[in-house]
Amino acid sequence: MDTGNLTGITDLLLAWFDKKARVLPWREHPSPYYVWVSEIMLQQTRVEAVKPFFARFTAALPDVAALAACPEERLLKLWEGLGYYNRVRNMQKAARLVMREYGGELPRTYEELRKLPGIGSYTAGAIASIAYGKAVPAVDGNVLRVISRICGNEEDIAKQSVRARFEEELRGVMPQDRPGAYNQALMELGATVCLPNGAPDCEACPVRELCYAKRTGRQMELPVKAAKKARRIEERTVLVIRDDKRAAVRRRPEKGLLAGMYELPNCDGHLTQDEALKLVKDYGFSPIRILPLSPAKHIFSHIEWRMIGYLVLVEEKCARQTAPGFSVRSEEASGDHGDAAPLLFVETVRTEREYPIPAAFAAYAKYLSIRLGQEKYSYKEIES
Ligand code: ADE
Repeated sequence: MDTGNLTGITDLLLAWFDKKARVLPWREHPSPYYVWVSEIMLQQTRVEAVKPFFARFTAALPDVAALAACPEERLLKLWEGLGYYNRVRNMQKAARLVMREYGGELPRTYEELRKLPGIGSYTAGAIASIAYGKAVPAVDGNVLRVISRICGNEEDIAKQSVRARFEEELRGVMPQDRPGAYNQALMELGATVCLPNGAPDCEACPVRELCYAKRTGRQMELPVKAAKKARRIEERTVLVIRDDKRAAVRRRPEKGLLAGMYELPNCDGHLTQDEALKLVKDYGFSPIRILPLSPAKHIFSHIEWRMIGYLVLVEEKCARQTAPGFSVRSEEASGDHGDAAPLLFVETVRTEREYPIPAAFAAYAKYLSIRLGQEKYSYKEIES
């Protein structure tokens, strides 16, 4: 890698950023807290999509103290739609630690920030440079791509050792007076001009004259990135079990995928209509009608859910309330049912306000707020 190219880019990059930087809510007031929240959200979601989530989150939790004190379910509700819920849980752990040990103000050095839960080298670098003006790098995927192309680096950017070396090289060339702008300019260039998948807009690039990939026509080959392992495919059946006012939900286990979130009852495999009905009866409900719903897919980082679903209308007076895994309206576990939490049968208006149901279920959760009994749904009547 020819890091010599890096020494020449600073002025060009900063001049470009001063002209072209997008106006973003967290840039207007780059407080450490705002930078932190925005960078965690941006690790998983594009800038345009993050804006409304950022506005909602910071309006509800304007500072570290509010984040530290927020009840967990409200916190998950505020994160709903962003996915990767462990990130916001870690943010809360960090916020509590910051309250205890730093008087509510995020620490100012890269090293101290790095020790907080959920803050890796990228986020620590972003907060230290953007909010506190410290000359430390913040290397994300965009920056890895930009630097690989400018310097002609052929190493696999998925490797931690390669990232660490990029950070080292950048430390040596960063401008001491504007490190936050420099880091953001690199990210911005990657997000808006030096795009992945063979679509860089080199004519719009302020450093094209210094870029190895542009000079040699190798934009499509760089960066080098080893293919990720394929996602595991899981088939699931999701049940929307409802009467006129209430619907069944349950809490997921404390560990693992979507830990502690609420979900619609669901199980492994694709059940037939009859199998789904049997399961609903086993839960202790008396089904009246069943309607197959459209298949849906949800992609997590390592798993892909291929879902089918059924909307099952049940009698208002639920039958055998003592059935395994079932507890009407009670919000406490009703005994020992193995790993599965009890089903709660709660008013549908409350599911929206109080029970954070992750986006993975969005295709089916929308049936929680649909009025039942409308002719347009071709239910199959159940004979009992
Ligand atoms: N992507 C993630 N963080 C960013 C930032 N601060 N500026 C531009 N793009 C980003």
